[in-house]
Amino acid sequence: MVRKFFVGGNWKMNGNKKSLSELACSINKAKINPDTEVVFGAPAVYIDCIRQTLDCKYGVAAQNCYKVATGAFTGEISPAMIKDCGATWVILGHSERRHVFGESDELIGQKVAHALSEGLGVIACVGEKLDEREAGTTDKVVFAQTKFIADNVKDWAKVVLAYEPVWAIGTGKTATPQQAQEVHEKLRKWLKDNVSEAVASSVRIIYGGSVTGATCKELAGMCDVDGFLVGGASLKPEFVDIINAKQ
Ligand code: PGA
Repeated sequence: MVRKFFVGGNWKMNGNKKSLSELACSINKAKINPDTEVVFGAPAVYIDCIRQTLDCKYGVAAQNCYKVATGAFTGEISPAMIKDCGATWVILGHSERRHVFGESDELIGQKVAHALSEGLGVIACVGEKLDEREAGTTDKVVFAQTKFIADNVKDWAKVVLAYEPVWAIGTGKTATPQQAQEVHEKLRKWLKDNVSEAVASSVRIIYGGSVTGATCKELAGMCDVDGFLVGGASLKPEFVDIINAKQ
């Protein structure tokens, strides 16, 4: 099973219309491996502008969405609105949503179900905190998070699973290729045992957490690492090297 390498840039709450448009223009001009799928997670208010600026071969993602289509939910955006602005992906369950904004596994599952039912692709994130890793509960934590996601997925073709250890996000402390591979392999096995062999072999499992131009190549060489979700480095020129990490 050949899984197309997938690299997402997660711009988080950074940049402005001018700087992000310039970034998009520089990506349009860069030499990018055509065998890699690339998606940019733009701040919601800039999705429209970034979609218009970026070459159509690149995808645009929202960084979050709500679990229903419309209604009295001040401050939220729906998958229908995301699609209306031309984006086709959404990042859900990011550790900052889980741990800064207190989103539960259950809410993330509901969001996954709704986003998929609206036809968006979902980058679904899981990952353990440092104390959980140190307590030896990494598997238990990521399997439990993955179950809440899996229970809400009918069509896995629209899902990319992102393993992002919380201790590695924004810390400059990238997981070692062995640490990433170990969890990715276990997640694939979990999918085999709990979903199906076909899904396990076809779903892209990408790694996120302080990926840089310096760490990406070795990580990309791991057999169960199918790409990256990149925060800080996605705002820098080295993002092109990360997109092109797969040899
Ligand atoms: P980072 O963020 O690359 O800045 O660690 C990754 C993420 O949050 O997806």
